[in-house]
Amino acid sequence: MAIRPIVRLGHPALRSPADPVPLEKLADPEFQTLIDDMLETMDDAGGVGLAAPQLGLPWQLFVYAAVDPDHEDDDEHEPELKVLVNPGIDPESREVVYDWEGCLSISDMRGLVPRYPAVLVHAFDRHGERLDFRAERYEARIVQHEFDHLNGIVFLDRMRDLRSLAFGDEWEQFMIRGEDSEGAGDG
Ligand code: NI
Repeated sequence: MAIRPIVRLGHPALRSPADPVPLEKLADPEFQTLIDDMLETMDDAGGVGLAAPQLGLPWQLFVYAAVDPDHEDDDEHEPELKVLVNPGIDPESREVVYDWEGCLSISDMRGLVPRYPAVLVHAFDRHGERLDFRAERYEARIVQHEFDHLNGIVFLDRMRDLRSLAFGDEWEQFMIRGEDSEGAGDG
Protein backbone atom coordinates (compact mmCIF):
# COMPACT_ATOMS: atom_id res chain seq x y z
CA MET A 1 0.00 0.00 0.00
CA ALA A 2 1.06 3.55 -0.52
CA ILE A 3 -0.01 7.07 0.26
CA ARG A 4 -0.84 8.91 -2.94
CA PRO A 5 -0.87 12.68 -3.50
CA ILE A 6 -4.26 14.38 -3.14
CA VAL A 7 -5.00 16.91 -5.88
CA ARG A 8 -6.33 20.30 -4.88
CA LEU A 9 -8.86 22.76 -6.22
CA GLY A 10 -7.74 23.90 -9.65
CA HIS A 11 -6.84 20.37 -10.79
CA PRO A 12 -9.16 19.50 -13.69
CA ALA A 13 -9.93 16.03 -12.23
CA LEU A 14 -11.98 17.78 -9.52
CA ARG A 15 -14.15 19.41 -12.16
CA SER A 16 -14.70 16.46 -14.49
CA PRO A 17 -17.45 13.82 -14.24
CA ALA A 18 -15.95 10.42 -13.40
CA ASP A 19 -16.52 7.26 -15.45
CA PRO A 20 -18.31 4.12 -14.21
CA VAL A 21 -15.89 1.40 -13.12
CA PRO A 22 -16.26 -1.68 -15.38
CA LEU A 23 -16.97 -4.37 -12.78
CA GLU A 24 -14.41 -6.76 -14.27
CA LYS A 25 -11.80 -4.16 -13.33
CA LEU A 26 -12.41 -5.05 -9.66
CA ALA A 27 -10.63 -8.38 -10.32
CA ASP A 28 -7.49 -6.47 -11.33
CA PRO A 29 -4.99 -6.54 -8.41
CA GLU A 30 -3.80 -3.06 -9.38
CA PHE A 31 -7.31 -1.72 -8.92
CA GLN A 32 -7.59 -3.40 -5.51
CA THR A 33 -4.26 -1.77 -4.61
CA LEU A 34 -5.72 1.57 -5.63
CA ILE A 35 -8.62 1.02 -3.21
CA ASP A 36 -6.20 0.11 -0.39
CA ASP A 37 -4.14 3.18 -1.24
CA MET A 38 -7.25 5.37 -1.07
CA LEU A 39 -8.05 4.06 2.41
CA GLU A 40 -4.47 4.61 3.55
CA THR A 41 -4.28 8.07 1.97
CA MET A 42 -7.55 9.10 3.63
CA ASP A 43 -6.31 7.89 6.99
CA ASP A 44 -2.93 9.59 6.59
CA ALA A 45 -4.60 12.88 5.69
CA GLY A 46 -6.95 12.63 8.67
CA GLY A 47 -9.98 12.71 6.37
CA VAL A 48 -13.38 11.06 6.69
CA GLY A 49 -13.78 10.39 2.97
CA LEU A 50 -11.83 10.35 -0.28
CA ALA A 51 -13.04 10.08 -3.86
CA ALA A 52 -10.96 8.78 -6.79
CA PRO A 53 -10.98 12.18 -8.58
CA GLN A 54 -9.14 13.56 -5.53
CA LEU A 55 -6.24 11.35 -6.60
CA GLY A 56 -6.63 12.64 -10.16
CA LEU A 57 -8.35 9.42 -11.29
CA PRO A 58 -11.61 9.50 -13.28
CA TRP A 59 -13.42 6.62 -11.56
CA GLN A 60 -16.82 6.53 -9.87
CA LEU A 61 -15.32 5.26 -6.64
CA PHE A 62 -14.97 6.62 -3.13
CA VAL A 63 -14.05 5.44 0.34
CA TYR A 64 -15.16 6.82 3.68
CA ALA A 65 -15.20 6.17 7.39
CA ALA A 66 -18.78 5.58 8.52
CA VAL A 67 -18.57 6.96 12.04
CA ASP A 68 -21.47 5.92 14.23
CA PRO A 69 -22.91 9.33 15.19
CA ASP A 70 -23.70 8.09 18.70
CA HIS A 71 -20.06 7.11 19.31
CA GLU A 72 -18.12 9.85 17.50
CA ASP A 73 -15.87 10.69 20.42
CA ASP A 74 -15.64 7.15 21.70
CA ASP A 75 -12.26 5.59 20.85
CA GLU A 76 -13.66 2.10 21.48
CA HIS A 77 -15.82 2.38 18.37
CA GLU A 78 -13.65 2.21 15.27
CA PRO A 79 -15.44 3.67 12.23
CA GLU A 80 -16.51 1.16 9.60
CA LEU A 81 -14.50 1.75 6.43
CA LYS A 82 -16.71 1.63 3.35
CA VAL A 83 -15.83 1.40 -0.34
CA LEU A 84 -18.51 2.41 -2.85
CA VAL A 85 -18.17 1.67 -6.56
CA ASN A 86 -20.51 3.25 -9.15
CA PRO A 87 -22.78 4.69 -6.47
CA GLY A 88 -26.17 6.31 -6.89
CA ILE A 89 -28.08 8.14 -4.17
CA ASP A 90 -31.73 9.03 -3.64
CA PRO A 91 -32.71 11.54 -0.96
CA GLU A 92 -35.40 10.32 1.38
CA SER A 93 -37.13 13.70 1.42
CA ARG A 94 -36.61 17.19 0.01
CA GLU A 95 -35.76 18.64 3.41
CA VAL A 96 -32.15 19.81 3.91
CA VAL A 97 -30.05 20.38 7.00
CA TYR A 98 -26.98 22.59 7.34
CA ASP A 99 -23.71 21.57 8.91
CA TRP A 100 -20.00 22.25 8.53
CA GLU A 101 -17.84 20.53 5.94
CA GLY A 102 -14.25 20.59 4.85
CA CYS A 103 -12.47 18.93 1.94
CA LEU A 104 -9.01 17.38 1.60
CA SER A 105 -8.78 19.12 -1.80
CA ILE A 106 -9.62 22.54 -0.32
CA SER A 107 -7.12 22.71 2.52
CA ASP A 108 -8.06 24.14 5.87
CA MET A 109 -11.43 25.64 4.93
CA ARG A 110 -14.82 25.08 6.50
CA GLY A 111 -18.25 26.10 5.36
CA LEU A 112 -21.91 25.47 6.11
CA VAL A 113 -23.41 23.16 3.50
CA PRO A 114 -27.03 22.05 3.04
CA ARG A 115 -27.48 18.29 2.61
CA TYR A 116 -30.27 15.76 2.78
CA PRO A 117 -30.42 14.25 6.27
CA ALA A 118 -30.98 10.72 4.91
CA VAL A 119 -30.27 9.10 1.55
CA LEU A 120 -30.75 5.67 0.04
CA VAL A 121 -27.48 4.43 -1.42
CA HIS A 122 -27.12 1.98 -4.30
CA ALA A 123 -23.63 0.88 -5.21
CA PHE A 124 -21.22 -2.04 -5.52
CA ASP A 125 -18.62 -2.96 -2.96
CA ARG A 126 -14.96 -3.57 -3.83
CA HIS A 127 -15.76 -7.15 -4.83
CA GLY A 128 -18.64 -6.25 -7.13
CA GLU A 129 -21.39 -7.24 -4.68
CA ARG A 130 -24.47 -5.04 -4.69
CA LEU A 131 -24.84 -2.67 -1.78
CA ASP A 132 -28.18 -1.09 -0.94
CA PHE A 133 -28.44 0.77 2.33
CA ARG A 134 -29.76 3.85 4.04
CA ALA A 135 -27.34 6.46 5.33
CA GLU A 136 -28.40 9.17 7.75
CA ARG A 137 -27.02 12.19 9.56
CA TYR A 138 -23.21 12.47 9.41
CA GLU A 139 -22.82 9.40 7.18
CA ALA A 140 -25.43 10.80 4.75
CA ARG A 141 -23.46 14.06 4.63
CA ILE A 142 -20.18 12.30 3.85
CA VAL A 143 -21.80 10.17 1.15
CA GLN A 144 -23.29 13.25 -0.54
CA HIS A 145 -19.97 15.14 -0.34
CA GLU A 146 -18.04 12.23 -1.89
CA PHE A 147 -20.75 11.53 -4.47
CA ASP A 148 -20.46 15.17 -5.59
CA HIS A 149 -16.74 14.63 -6.23
CA LEU A 150 -17.72 12.01 -8.83
CA ASN A 151 -19.64 14.71 -10.68
CA GLY A 152 -17.06 17.50 -10.59
CA ILE A 153 -18.82 19.28 -7.71
CA VAL A 154 -17.12 20.53 -4.51
CA PHE A 155 -18.77 21.67 -1.29
CA LEU A 156 -18.21 25.34 -2.14
CA ASP A 157 -20.66 24.89 -5.05
CA ARG A 158 -23.32 23.69 -2.60
CA MET A 159 -22.97 26.54 -0.12
CA ARG A 160 -25.83 29.00 -0.16
CA ASP A 161 -24.00 31.72 1.76
CA LEU A 162 -20.24 32.06 1.39
CA ARG A 163 -20.08 34.21 4.52
CA SER A 164 -19.82 31.05 6.62
CA LEU A 165 -16.55 30.13 4.84
CA ALA A 166 -13.64 30.18 7.28
CA PHE A 167 -10.11 28.92 7.84
CA GLY A 168 -9.77 26.15 10.42
CA ASP A 169 -8.28 28.17 13.28
CA GLU A 170 -10.69 31.08 12.85
CA TRP A 171 -13.58 28.64 12.48
CA GLU A 172 -12.72 27.08 15.83
CA GLN A 173 -12.12 30.44 17.48
CA PHE A 174 -15.12 32.39 16.23
CA MET A 175 -17.69 30.22 14.51
CA ILE A 176 -18.41 26.99 16.37
CA ARG A 177 -18.22 28.10 19.96
CA GLY A 178 -21.00 26.36 21.82
CA GLU A 179 -22.40 24.81 18.67
CA ASP A 180 -23.41 21.20 18.44
CA SER A 181 -21.97 20.20 15.08
CA GLU A 182 -21.85 16.68 13.71
CA GLY A 183 -19.86 17.66 10.67
CA ALA A 184 -16.60 19.41 9.77
CA GLY A 185 -14.60 16.34 8.79
CA ASP A 186 -12.59 16.62 5.58
CA GLY A 187 -13.88 14.53 2.70
NI1 NI B 1 -13.97 16.69 -0.61
